[in-house]
Amino acid sequence: MSVSSEFLNKYNVSGPRYTSYPPANFFNNAFAVSDYIGELKDSNTQTPKDISIYIHIPFCPCRCHFCGCSTVIAQKKSVVERYIDAMKVEITNVSSHLNLQRKVTQIHWGGGTPNSIEMRFIRDIMEHIRSIFTISEKAEIAMECSPAYLEFSDIDELAEMGFNRMSLGIQDFRADVLKVVNRMGPKYPVNEVVDYLRTKGFRGINLDFIYGLPLQTPESFTETLKQAIAIRPDRIVTFSYAHVPWAKKAQKQLEKIGLPGPEEKMEILVNSIAQLEAAGYLSIGIDHFVLPDDDLAIAFLEKKLHRNFQGYCTLETTGQVYGFGASSIGQFWGAYAQNIKEFPKYIDAIEESGYAIERGYKLSKEEQIIRTIVNSIMCNGLLVFKEIADQFDMTVQQIKELVRFDPVNFEDFILDDLMEMNDSRIKIHEKGFIFARNIAMALDPAYNQEENIYSKTV
Ligand SMILES: C[S@@+](CC[C@H](N)C(=O)[O-])C[C@H]1O[C@@H](n2cnc3c(N)ncnc32)[C@H](O)[C@@H]1O
Ligand code: SF4
Repeated sequence: MSVSSEFLNKYNVSGPRYTSYPPANFFNNAFAVSDYIGELKDSNTQTPKDISIYIHIPFCPCRCHFCGCSTVIAQKKSVVERYIDAMKVEITNVSSHLNLQRKVTQIHWGGGTPNSIEMRFIRDIMEHIRSIFTISEKAEIAMECSPAYLEFSDIDELAEMGFNRMSLGIQDFRADVLKVVNRMGPKYPVNEVVDYLRTKGFRGINLDFIYGLPLQTPESFTETLKQAIAIRPDRIVTFSYAHVPWAKKAQKQLEKIGLPGPEEKMEILVNSIAQLEAAGYLSIGIDHFVLPDDDLAIAFLEKKLHRNFQGYCTLETTGQVYGFGASSIGQFWGAYAQNIKEFPKYIDAIEESGYAIERGYKLSKEEQIIRTIVNSIMCNGLLVFKEIADQFDMTVQQIKELVRFDPVNFEDFILDDLMEMNDSRIKIHEKGFIFARNIAMALDPAYNQEENIYSKTV
């Protein structure tokens, strides 16, 4: 697949990432704990029926200036301990509303840097989860780790606790880039870490990179990816740096050093796609590259890929998501529910009332249908109207009326050979896949182009 920078420029507009539908900026404070409990109970009879658990550890030993995640600088052990205890209370309370015959098929630890806290805290939570839930033998148990703090003995312990997936945040292999963004590099050679993870049974091993950081050039990023390819991880993610200094003040410091301009960023993206595909990686979605025998590649080729706030997943591992910890988001068929973002307030709320829901969103039936359509486009690049109509017991015409199904909206995409459409379906072409967000935006009745509140699509 070759993507021209001319297309990239044309379609590089501000828009949602569609990790949820509607996007998180629609969440509101009218959603109360009582709504949450109602959703928890309802979730027992809804699809997907399995349970997916998200654990948020907000702590990081130091803060990378580019970071867009919900993090705080590492805390004293006693504070971490209170946080872990609060999460255990939250897990117990939430589980009391769930049908525990349902199996857990995914546990995802994100942050922050989950591996920066002591292993005993991780073990404590994992044992608590196991004491309440039944974990499927096929479950994916994953952690997002920073290799700056990852010891080989940690890998032993995590494997022993049942972890079988890991994502390592590399961002860039160049020391000068890491230095200006205030980030520590890997403690051990990444190839040795990846090899060791494999011997311990980890699969779907992922390396995260970001392009668009200060000092990066197309040549330097090519060199970084060359090193990544030599390590041969199962998955490589190249995030476009999301610059939102109005929301993340530390990012302003990067402006002072100087960020690569949009054209340079485009060149990096075009080069990366060509380089990773030439090395045998299959491009899925916007920024994910996977080896052909990886579960995600197989699901993608079979058009069975799914997606949640934790990223892409497969039908076997997806479940309704129950989030625990500060800022975590629960994702149910009928609603999203988000916890308080500031961790001290989260602890106080759990200690006072057992729950810490701050905001959320209840989806109407129409929004549930639009979400299914957006996910179908974002994950599999395919929308078959009859399938959606059958799923919701509606007519194809009714489905089309729910979205902006006006062929005029898609003329450019079609002329640029990014997709094709007829009365029965929309199919995104291989080279159109990185514009899936734009195509979803064209269908989305809630998307307002005038609102400049999102990061750019590329
Ligand atoms: C929670 S972090 C991963 C674990 C660990 N904290 C680390 O940094 O190694 C999740 C990923 O989000 C990505 N990320 C963070 N801030 C970003 C931003 N502003 N734009 C794009 N990607 C970002 C990084 O690639 C990072 O690896
Ligand atoms: S990128 Fe990772 S290590 Fe850096 S501040 Fe964000 S969450 Fe922490």
